[in-house]
Amino acid sequence: MLELQQVAIITGKDNREGSQELVLVLACRNQDRAKIAGEKLLRKYNNKNLLIETITLDTSDSSSVLNAAKVIETRYKHVNYLFCNAGIMSISGLDWKGIVNGILKHPLEFVGGTEALVQNVGLQTKEGLGLVFATNFFGHYLLIKKISGVMGKAPGARRIIWVSSNASELEFDKNDIQHVRGKKPYESSKFITDQISVVLDKQILKEKKIRSFVVEPGNVATNILSGIASQLFIGFVYSAFLLVRLVFGIFRLTVTPWNGSYGAFYAATENEQKLDGSLKYNTCCTRLGSLFVDPQPIKTNKKLASYLVDELDQLVAYTTGNSEMTISLARPENIGIKAIEVYFPKKYVDQVELEKHDGVSAGKYTIGLGQEKMSFCDDREDIASMALTVVKQFMQKYNVDYKNIGRLEVGTETMIDKSKATKTFLMSLFEESGNHSIEGIDTTNACYGGTSAFFNACQWIDSRAWDGRLALVVSGDIAVYASGNARPSGGVGIACILVGPDAPLALEFPLRGTFMEHVYDFYKPDLSSEFPTVDGPLSIVSYIKALDYAYLGYLKKLELAGESESASLSDLDYIVFHSPYTKQVAKGFGRLLFNDFLRDKNNQKFALIKDQFENETLESSYHNKNLEKAFIQLSKEAYSLKTTPSLLAAKNIGNMYTGSVFFGLASLISSIPSSQLLNKRIALFSYGSGCAASLYSFKVTGDLSDIAKNLDLINRLNDRICVSPPDFENIMSLRQKTHNAVSYSPTGPIEELYPGTFYLESVDSMWRRKYNIA
Ligand code: ACO
Repeated sequence: MLELQQVAIITGKDNREGSQELVLVLACRNQDRAKIAGEKLLRKYNNKNLLIETITLDTSDSSSVLNAAKVIETRYKHVNYLFCNAGIMSISGLDWKGIVNGILKHPLEFVGGTEALVQNVGLQTKEGLGLVFATNFFGHYLLIKKISGVMGKAPGARRIIWVSSNASELEFDKNDIQHVRGKKPYESSKFITDQISVVLDKQILKEKKIRSFVVEPGNVATNILSGIASQLFIGFVYSAFLLVRLVFGIFRLTVTPWNGSYGAFYAATENEQKLDGSLKYNTCCTRLGSLFVDPQPIKTNKKLASYLVDELDQLVAYTTGNSEMTISLARPENIGIKAIEVYFPKKYVDQVELEKHDGVSAGKYTIGLGQEKMSFCDDREDIASMALTVVKQFMQKYNVDYKNIGRLEVGTETMIDKSKATKTFLMSLFEESGNHSIEGIDTTNACYGGTSAFFNACQWIDSRAWDGRLALVVSGDIAVYASGNARPSGGVGIACILVGPDAPLALEFPLRGTFMEHVYDFYKPDLSSEFPTVDGPLSIVSYIKALDYAYLGYLKKLELAGESESASLSDLDYIVFHSPYTKQVAKGFGRLLFNDFLRDKNNQKFALIKDQFENETLESSYHNKNLEKAFIQLSKEAYSLKTTPSLLAAKNIGNMYTGSVFFGLASLISSIPSSQLLNKRIALFSYGSGCAASLYSFKVTGDLSDIAKNLDLINRLNDRICVSPPDFENIMSLRQKTHNAVSYSPTGPIEELYPGTFYLESVDSMWRRKYNIA
């Protein structure tokens, strides 16, 4: 280990040093160039007290930073100075409009500024960090975090000197601190440098007595333009700078790199009492070339700085933790649904046939409930097989890498095990990829579990826990009722949703209204049966009441968010409802209009019914059939525009409990051209008995036509096997008899499954289920 008096580390390449008994460490990514620079310095100074060493350091690569930190810690007992000098500005060309504007409007400020330069946008390191952010700032921050211990041991000076620039808060975006989306990554990186240096000096490194100073080199004619301009042009800029300084006395035109490094020299050598970490030491040069510093206060924002420190420390944790992780580039935007796939069984029963078979009046199921066909499955399928089918199908269709899923949530009320989550069955699909690092588990409350699972997934991506990967939400059920009036309101279906940032269906985060209360309307207390216990009439009222309050909550949020002055149905372009049967949805839609009426009775659109319902309230009207009919009638046109397109699956499959709302969304996407949906607001109402309900919304921010194409919903609905009602009844009895059976092999015909469908092969004596693929 070296014992010399002072150790100074310079990142990147610099041209000045001068103290005695100094180990000067050139920390550069290119070792050949570092050696040449070192030799030049030795030739120039030929000082026996100067030792020059090199270390490989690429500040844009955290593994290189971590390696360099290790080398520093093992090689040196202490470090006195760290010059954070490495930096890039990636220029793609000249902004001629900016040049003309700058010359005409503020010619003196323009000279040497960055206004004339167009920077490359969206550059990333191999880890996925913003390239300029990582190179100019974060690599240094990480290095400081790692070597602050060895710096804290230094006798004498302990100084970090940041080479900054003219950083503008205007170029900085709190939601994109790595400035991946913005056009000024260079300025943004320098803004963070200034803010963080002050915090390092005043708080973080204070205990270790390490000081942090910001210096500004002035305008130097460097080789920054070499990628886009000839040597002749650069020579011209150099001469122009000298001339302008001489004529106009613009002191910040330091012109040469040697001059530009004076500020750093000053901050390294000046008496510490005279230095102040909240100032920026601007390097200046008189007309005739005398150097001096012009200290100026750094405009700080305490709240922002503490936010930045939190964000940066998260990044430090990522970069020093699991190296396989993809690091988030910036705060994610437009979090929501990136893709949807659905699965429903091949068998259905026709509701007209069922009416006849059940001996009920014609129209009871088709008009009374508004249903056409009902999906069902035999004993070959259960919730785990269906979830396996839809996830596998999804991953194949969208070619998603299993390793790129960081969260997997399942929303279902169809149970095959009181402890082992359906999600755990899905982990078998991830086996081959070796990805076992997937958060999320099952969520259950009647038809609402999928909504809660979806919120969880979105909130994970919006949170600090997010590691940059995507989330899958699997939501669906086998909805079967005991024979009787509820049976025709069954159905089977499961959806798989890919959740991530930059989604074409972006969740409008703050816009949601939620209503929950304790009610026994539909529940499953008998764990030996697949059937729910249902109080049908109560469930209908409970659905409507929850809708009332979720809608009112949602409208309030719309107004609070400034989206609407007086919010109403007209703020929603499309509304997707949980559909136990479509007649209930029509009632729900009418009820929204009734809520609008209560909020704005004098609106002209209510003129015809105003007198009749003037005195009604929410509570008084839950059993008022006339009111229900009147508002269904009044809302008919809006209903057919805003909601009917989302009922395609509901009418043809039936209730799918947790899957219902997502099938509604899939139906809407399949029924309305993507161009027509663009920029529209789609609201979703999710109701789960017991009860839990939310009304929330999406903005369509991108093209949905690929999703529609992949769903191929209409063709798939037409490609099914129609089973007669007696056969349907037999299959229902088979399911009932074999529910929870042990040491059992199902008997349902495998050839009646779609190819690629997972099916239950057997249940062994310990209730372990084995699946196969048709
Ligand atoms: N032609 C036209 N309409 C008819 C006919 C006919 N021949 N016969 C009856 N109807 C109408 C009725 O007038 C009634 O209309 P309305 O809703 O406008 O009043 C409708 O069909 C339903 O008939 P009912 O006799 O009132 O009710 P039924 O005994 O059929 O039960 C129910 C319907 C309660 C929905 C039942 O299917 C059930 O319990 N389902 C499960 C619970 C459920 O789905 N609840 C909804 C929310 S909770 C959830 O999602 C699980």
